[in-house]
Amino acid sequence: MAIGALTWNFSIYLSELVQLRNQAWWRQLKQAVKREFRDLDPNKMVYNMRGPYHVDSLAFGETPVLTTLKILDTLQLPKGSTIVDLGSGRGLPCLTAAALGYRTIGLEYFAVYTERSERIARAMNLDATFLSGNFLSRPLPQADVYLVSATAFPEDTRAALKQKLDQQALRVVAQDWILGSPWEHERMQKLPVSWGTAQFCYQRKIPGP
Ligand SMILES: C[S@@+](CC[C@H](N)C(=O)[O-])C[C@H]1O[C@@H](n2cnc3c(N)ncnc32)[C@H](O)[C@@H]1O
Repeated sequence: MAIGALTWNFSIYLSELVQLRNQAWWRQLKQAVKREFRDLDPNKMVYNMRGPYHVDSLAFGETPVLTTLKILDTLQLPKGSTIVDLGSGRGLPCLTAAALGYRTIGLEYFAVYTERSERIARAMNLDATFLSGNFLSRPLPQADVYLVSATAFPEDTRAALKQKLDQQALRVVAQDWILGSPWEHERMQKLPVSWGTAQFCYQRKIPGP
């Protein structure tokens, strides 16, 4: 990992340490993610499979705990609401939201992530479920809000995913992606992610006639 990325992620960790060190769930979550994913480098895995120039939507990056907490605070969902993360990676946003009392489901292409995220959820007794598969070719689980880390998604992935969201979703928080009609773009928040910052776009479907 480049030195800039290392120092950036270390500063994210320090902010979490300062703000969340007294939260037992945060300490447990950090330890569990470190333990479960110790032997797996997500970037290397994708590069080995696709090559450095054809990574496409499978590019790995992560939404830190504090960013997820900010999103939840902005959404103001009733506790027990269902949140689905489309492309859930190592499961951090789902596990964080579940620790705060939400029901979460992560859908992720790589089973090697979902198996481990699922183990963390069981060990921490969290209401988080992880399914592996391609979100373009399987039904989306029902949710009150969908999270989509779309920054690296190419146009064809976005177009196919939008069709599914148009049919099924009511609220979406997408990274660096404004969906357009029939979606109303309510607000944008620039927040830290593991590779820098992303614009989180809060969108609500305008009801049809
Ligand atoms: C940038 S990572 C974000 C991970 C997580 N959502 C987070 O914010 O920490 C995007 C994830 O989407 C997954 N992904 C990309 N295309 C997918 C697809 N068609 N079906 C399922 N997962 C996909 C990738 O494997 C990767 O783990």
